[in-house]
Amino acid sequence: MQYRQLGKTGYQVSSVSFGAWAIGGTWGTTDDTESLAALHKAVDLGVNFIDTADVYGDGKSERLIAQLRRDRSEKLIVATKAGRRLDPHSTSGYNRANLTAFVERSLKNLETDSLDLLQLHCPPTDVYYRPDVFEILDDLMQGGKIRSYGVSVERVEEALKAIEFPGVATVQIIYNIFRQRPAEIFFREAQARNVGILARLPLSSGLLAGKMSRNSRFAPDDHRSFNRHGEAFDRGETFSGIDFETALSAVELLRPLLLSGMTMAQFALRWVLTRPEVSCVIPGAKRPDQVQDNCSAADLPEISAETLNAVQAIYAARIRPLVQHYW
Ligand SMILES: NC(=O)c1ccc[n+]([C@@H]2O[C@H](COP(=O)([O-])OP(=O)(O)OC[C@H]3O[C@@H](n4cnc5c(N)ncnc54)[C@H](OP(=O)(O)O)[C@@H]3O)[C@@H](O)[C@H]2O)c1
Repeated sequence: MQYRQLGKTGYQVSSVSFGAWAIGGTWGTTDDTESLAALHKAVDLGVNFIDTADVYGDGKSERLIAQLRRDRSEKLIVATKAGRRLDPHSTSGYNRANLTAFVERSLKNLETDSLDLLQLHCPPTDVYYRPDVFEILDDLMQGGKIRSYGVSVERVEEALKAIEFPGVATVQIIYNIFRQRPAEIFFREAQARNVGILARLPLSSGLLAGKMSRNSRFAPDDHRSFNRHGEAFDRGETFSGIDFETALSAVELLRPLLLSGMTMAQFALRWVLTRPEVSCVIPGAKRPDQVQDNCSAADLPEISAETLNAVQAIYAARIRPLVQHYW
């Protein structure tokens, strides 16, 4: 495992970390024993950072992580998120009473007295124009309820606005072979302000692991079934917002670029880690074998310039027009 600095938090985090959405829910049936085994495998392999949210399985993901922490002596840094319990999910809901209540609930679920990192969970764009919201986060930090805070964003412009607030220590954003716009301007600006970057959907919801085909079917309670067109939340969160068949054909063009012995998941994760501005990738995983595969990416050699250019050409021709002006 390799470790990188997570922006202003000062934490050194594993370059391949763990995304804990799928073990909570909305990804079809999961088995808690297997989910815990996946978490343990991650810690065995040197993962020390886990990303979760209060809404993943309505707290189930946080509670599984609490159980992991009880079972392990290693220092584990846990980032959670707040805001998506609001219904309706409105800017005015991001107020002191609600944010304090969400933090208290996460503290309870995670069985701790201070959250390592609290992220606003893809709030409405207007929240980034409300300094009072960030003052509340400063106060929660002063009161010791949270150790640091950041934001999880949908759009590059939201990320650029968020990092104007000096307290924002991290930004979580979709960055993968199919979503490259964050690297154009945002990475430079984040690095200049010592803001950590959490790259989410590094596998584009599993597509970039190269295991899907036109015949792939997903359970009705898997967002890859019910959110293809943004029916439940931003469509960009499912397959990076790209039409499934178009994405599949791009995956087939990527496949010949792999070095022998490398899996597609490893290639996709190593590609993200090529960027030094990225603090870590947070691939979601449900099973120990996926964790093993993903963690191997941390120690792979650099991808050659020739291969990077080939990835770029595929992205430019097939994917960029589908994503560039949306996020
Ligand atoms: N708004 C937000 O803040 C937000 C939104 C989305 C995600 N996130 C965070 O980012 C994390 C990562 O994103 P994500 O989970 O949506 O997408 P992802 O990491 O791109 O894809 C994860 C899925 O890919 C499959 N997979 C994982 N490793 C694999 C491997 N080695 N080989 C084959 N398949 C593999 C698994 O699903 P199957 O086995 O079922 O195919 C897994 O659930 C989340 O867990 C969450 O912590 C945050």
